[in-house]
Amino acid sequence: MSRLVVVSNRLADPRKPAAGGLAVALGDTLARTGGLWFGWSGTVAPDDAAGDGQLHVRQAGRVTLATVDLSAEDFAGYYQGYANSVLWPVFHYRLDLADFNAAYVDAYRRVNRMFAARLMPLLRDDDTIWVHDYHLIPLAAELRALGCRQRIGFFLHIPVPPPLLLAALPHHAWLMRSFFAYDLIGLQSQADVAHFRRYMLNEVGAEELEGGRFAANGHETRVGAFPIGIDVQEFERLGQAPEAQRTHERLLQEYSRCQLLLGIDRLDYSKGIPQRVRAFQQLLEKYPENERSATLIMIASPSRDDVHAYGDLRQELEGLCGAINGDFGDLDWMPLRYIHRVVARRRVPGLCRAARVGLVTPLRDGMNLVAKEFVVSQDAQDPGVLVLSRFAGAAEQLQEALLVNPYDTEGMADAIQTALTMPLEERQQRHARLMQRIREHDVHWWRRSFLDALAAPAAQLLPA
Ligand code: F6P
Repeated sequence: MSRLVVVSNRLADPRKPAAGGLAVALGDTLARTGGLWFGWSGTVAPDDAAGDGQLHVRQAGRVTLATVDLSAEDFAGYYQGYANSVLWPVFHYRLDLADFNAAYVDAYRRVNRMFAARLMPLLRDDDTIWVHDYHLIPLAAELRALGCRQRIGFFLHIPVPPPLLLAALPHHAWLMRSFFAYDLIGLQSQADVAHFRRYMLNEVGAEELEGGRFAANGHETRVGAFPIGIDVQEFERLGQAPEAQRTHERLLQEYSRCQLLLGIDRLDYSKGIPQRVRAFQQLLEKYPENERSATLIMIASPSRDDVHAYGDLRQELEGLCGAINGDFGDLDWMPLRYIHRVVARRRVPGLCRAARVGLVTPLRDGMNLVAKEFVVSQDAQDPGVLVLSRFAGAAEQLQEALLVNPYDTEGMADAIQTALTMPLEERQQRHARLMQRIREHDVHWWRRSFLDALAAPAAQLLPA
């Protein structure tokens, strides 16, 4: 069997709690298959040090971890710059937040070239290479240029915007053509595939062939939706472990007079966090019976602090949370608990189980695995209700959640009220259907279906 080589910007760090679904999903995948995991070490070497591109290799069980350092200049241009100040906002429909600084794209190209150069000597002839996410779109093209002939698949964890939004990217033609160096491209949802298809037809003039294949300039690639899932069994085990149980019990004790609402996110403008707080405020105004009986716990873990838009968001959110607590709180009740820290993963199932309502309300999201974790954490006899943004990729699968438009404050307040007052039988029915779907399409299904499609002999290997 061929070895699996996974490439992603961020690797799971066993010493730190994971913030972000990608590292968790890839950790779960590689734990099953073994193989090589290649990416950024998480270390930024000072510009005058010779650390840039230095390779570190270590073994973690069946997985070899190979990582490289970035120089401070490359970190600023590639990660904070092109990846998180250009691609992230544009792919999440936020052209207003994009910073089209010309130096960023140079750093992005440079780091992708450096990654390819460091990875190439580690590859074996029969490896299957699986590249992840927007940081590394041109990586296959760089590998091909160095003579790589192995099969290379790509999975995009974030959404694909409509073609005209993509076309606002100054280097969109170059970026999108570099997808043709992959044998297979996996996207999160059918909506993403539809946008990608329209871009390829309208902007590239590609020819559409059978089986999700596209051809342009003598190159061919395949595209499909492979919605990412969670490791359900592993998460259930985590839920039975002492730390999750303790968290659950402690919350039930502390909030014995309250129904809990819960949001867990990275502090990111795509997650719709201020919109959620406003909806909660509206809930308290429109349905005053919730005063003293509903509490929102909002965990927004620090993320990309040095990128401008994230600092602004933090300030906005702190102002909003303070205002709600000031206006509605009393000596013995605070409506909102805002926590700007990472919560250990082993506590998450206990937190979710204690909540009557899970609020996953991004303005745009590739998938959102917290939505799936919330459902799996519930007690099937007395489950909580998931309120889910229709703009999260997860909404395509999780139709039995209460689907909301996060821009519609009053509609979202009404949905929260529906969730808080939903009869037990309806909660059980919705939960059972959601569980079935999440179980069927778990992380192992995702890995198998993607890698099987990648191994299928539809697309020829492409020259550089
Ligand atoms: O899922 C999208 C994603 O950007 C991943 O690629 C990433 O690992 C995660 O969110 C967390 O973001 P970051 O790696 O920038 O901390």
